[in-house]
Amino acid sequence: MSLAEILTRAPVIPVLVIDEVAHAIPLGRALVAGGLSVLEVTFRTPVAAACIEAMIAEVEGAVVGAGTVINGAMRQRAADLGCAFTVSPGLIAGERADGPVPLLPGIATPTELIAGLAAGFEVFKLFPANIVGGVGALKAFHSPFPQARFCPTGGVSAANAADYLALPNVVCVGGSWVAPAEAVRAGDWDRITRLAREAAALAQRPASPVEG
Ligand code: 3PG
Repeated sequence: MSLAEILTRAPVIPVLVIDEVAHAIPLGRALVAGGLSVLEVTFRTPVAAACIEAMIAEVEGAVVGAGTVINGAMRQRAADLGCAFTVSPGLIAGERADGPVPLLPGIATPTELIAGLAAGFEVFKLFPANIVGGVGALKAFHSPFPQARFCPTGGVSAANAADYLALPNVVCVGGSWVAPAEAVRAGDWDRITRLAREAAALAQRPASPVEG
């Protein structure tokens, strides 16, 4: 699956920080049951790789990716684990769009966007979206960079996701609000499915102009 196909499967990509392997499968199933099938498991905990493996093996319908990838070795590790995609908070020096697994790189400025386009990327994570200008920044980027598409992440929530998704250069948004840490700790999977269902109902452009 190409990155464009993955990013247009659902309007919201849950950004997951999982502390216990035992949470991975029920959390993944709860999100998929609510309609969010593209899951980003961040490499921020010691059990992240084990969680990714468990989700790939046991969560039917999930498209599992690795987040917080900050170098080429981590991208390769994600590919070896069987991830469908990877996400980075920034541009990784030397990494291009072609690689062992699709990569969604983060950018925060026009200079980074120019470097990312030169490396073959067409879709970028605007990060941290709400801090670096949010909806206004994406509107401003659209005229000089009509070929660039975005998945804004960082400070995106149920309250503002629709504003981002209404922009012509936004393919989806990312966020942790659909899997609150206290709900995961409490095993409140029904709450997570409800949050996922609300997020999945947000309008997403059906035919993304992004090339695969
Ligand atoms: C990320 O890495 O994308 C962010 O941690 C997610 O940001 P959020 O917690 O504000 O949704």
